[in-house]
Amino acid sequence: MTHIYTLLAHAGGDIDQSSGALIPPIELATTYERHPDGSYPLGFKYARDGNPTRRRLECALSKLEGGSDCRAFSSGMAAGNAIFQAFSPGDHVLIPDDVYHGIRHLVFDHFGLRGPVATAVNMSDTKVVESAFRDNTRMIWIESPSNPILKITDIKMISEIARARGAMVVVDATWTTPLLQPSFDLGADLVMYSLTKYMAGHSDVLGGAVLTREGSDVFDRICTYQQQAGAVLDPFSSWLTIRGLRTLGVRLSHQCASAQEIASFLENHNRVRIVHYPGLKAHPEHAVAKSQMSGFGAMISFEIEGGEREAMQVAARVRVFTRATSLGATESLIEHRASMEGPQTQTPANLLRLSIGLEHSVDLIEDLDHALDGH
Ligand SMILES: Cc1ncc(COP(=O)(O)O)c(C=O)c1O
Repeated sequence: MTHIYTLLAHAGGDIDQSSGALIPPIELATTYERHPDGSYPLGFKYARDGNPTRRRLECALSKLEGGSDCRAFSSGMAAGNAIFQAFSPGDHVLIPDDVYHGIRHLVFDHFGLRGPVATAVNMSDTKVVESAFRDNTRMIWIESPSNPILKITDIKMISEIARARGAMVVVDATWTTPLLQPSFDLGADLVMYSLTKYMAGHSDVLGGAVLTREGSDVFDRICTYQQQAGAVLDPFSSWLTIRGLRTLGVRLSHQCASAQEIASFLENHNRVRIVHYPGLKAHPEHAVAKSQMSGFGAMISFEIEGGEREAMQVAARVRVFTRATSLGATESLIEHRASMEGPQTQTPANLLRLSIGLEHSVDLIEDLDHALDGH
């Protein structure tokens, strides 16, 4: 089997048959010629249904994740929403109690009686998940590591429980990508990403994707919903994401190595109360993370001695990190997460979240050391 680094280096890159170009063209057309017999022999009719550049990206993502099909959306949230829309108001779904706050708002604030009913559970505790099942539970939403506490879910174990009860498993693999965690092998039926993060990788694309392991009614409904509701990824963003995928292997492995060093530094700093990083032996689910991930990722959260004021002061003092939300790009970011998530946040007030970029780890550690020491 071809190694994922090789697949990434060539992602979306069949030679263009009209010119011989190694780099795919950006196809901007919104409409396609119908032939005299009424057919569309090349498969494209209208850009909301399909576009060659977007299709190139969708095929590349399917190949990387080992899925059978994919649809690229205009954001990660649009992709997530399309999955929930494939279920009915009478259906019940389980989501992690610390799910990405955008998904929590969508499910609890927006759907109300219009969408599936959700229960938030501690996904790290299999017994809690098992006891939350109802007769009408149709889907389990997994995010591992979770955002921003980096809790780990045993995806294989939860998938077995779900399968025995006829529920689907969806994995939000935004933080792991196919490089760090084989979601389908671990039991996922659908995989979702925000392409905005590691996949595109340069803080200049907003996008999302849904992938399926095999054909299903649910995936058909997702495709129909996208085609009718129209939240498709535009050609330029599709092209930029293909370009980003080609360097994902080197970017993410460098970022993971730096993150491990930075997490160890923080763990030993006297102003840090706790570090949330699954690569540390002290992490409560380190063993599960080790068994299902080939790298522990490049996201770290840590809680400092003190409260919101002290955390804000640290975030204000960095010089190499940039103080901004989001993650997964070349530049390292620091964020006071609770104040970004709004009044309903469950994130501790003294928590700072780091997205480790491509700078040298020595510079990043020195920057954090200065920021924590207050000079
Ligand atoms: C884990 C996770 N899922 C989904 C999303 C939503 O993606 P987007 O911002 O592309 O809509 C994010 C965004 O931060 C995320 O971190």
